[in-house]
Amino acid sequence: MEIVLTGIKPTGTSHIGNYFGAIKQAIEFSKNPNYLSMFFIADYHSLNTIKNPELLKQYTYEIAATWLGCGLDPNKVIFYRQSDLPEIFELNWILNNVTPKGLLNRAHAYKAKVEENKNNNLDADSGINMGLYCYPVLMASDILIMKANKVPVGQDQKQHIEIAKEIARYFNNAFGSCLTVPEEYIPESVGTIVGLDGRKMSKSYGNTINLFGNEKLLKSQINKIVTNSQTPEEPKDTNCSIFKIFSLFANKQQIEEMKARFAQGIGWGEVKKITFEVANSFLSSMREIYNYYINNPKEIDRILEEGSLKARKIAQKTLNEVRKLIGKV
Ligand code: TRP
Repeated sequence: MEIVLTGIKPTGTSHIGNYFGAIKQAIEFSKNPNYLSMFFIADYHSLNTIKNPELLKQYTYEIAATWLGCGLDPNKVIFYRQSDLPEIFELNWILNNVTPKGLLNRAHAYKAKVEENKNNNLDADSGINMGLYCYPVLMASDILIMKANKVPVGQDQKQHIEIAKEIARYFNNAFGSCLTVPEEYIPESVGTIVGLDGRKMSKSYGNTINLFGNEKLLKSQINKIVTNSQTPEEPKDTNCSIFKIFSLFANKQQIEEMKARFAQGIGWGEVKKITFEVANSFLSSMREIYNYYINNPKEIDRILEEGSLKARKIAQKTLNEVRKLIGKV
């Protein structure tokens, strides 16, 4: 059976852009019985930016609870924590030795940092740790240890998958065919999810709506969606942030009704009130599951431990083949 694998980096609280842009499709895809789906929390990938142990713990639990809240079924998917698999890190070291340094010099994230440093008249490598530089090798290890066939990622991760393919080929050429060369799977773009201010929803713009904030926060964030100064009586254009955000949560009939009200004239306050109600009813059962797990982190540990046991079986098999090929006695 083909293996579909993807890693989720715990870097902060999820927003509705993460859900509608990626999580939803990934979970739908994982329900396809023709594939074995593996999802893991790439906690050690976060170490290059997070140096606060409490924060890393918090983000790890938050991201696990988020995916469970969004409908990931740990009985159908192998769901585990990267750091629970020592096999990944042993393979990581081995792969370092077949990875040309030049390949990593060309990685976008590293190159962007170097550019930024140059523009600020700093030393080219200022503030760059080896975790950032070697990030693509660890990612290749995550993928290759499971002999994953398909790796669903966003466009921003495409180069990382290309690097993983290269590394698999370098290893196979040096030691004999063992590693599966994976294929990236970039789901059709669902279009950008618009943020409170009309720009793309992104944590770095501070224009997000939290996926699992409480009702009060949800209401206050929806109230911050930027509108214009039209009076309630004036007919309104549906090409605006609030209508787009409303449409993410609404069903067909609700969207038609809202369109009609826009044509008649409706106050922005009223639109926001309805948007909150529709969004809240969409999110509330998911939020309940999320809250259950956040309040029961032991339950998350149990699920991830079970997942790790299954994942380690696959990882150990690959690692044993690799060890043999390189000449470990
Ligand atoms: N780098 C990915 C991201 O930032 C996360 C990730 C780590 C990953 N390891 C992976 C994704 C392996 C796919 C496969 O989103």
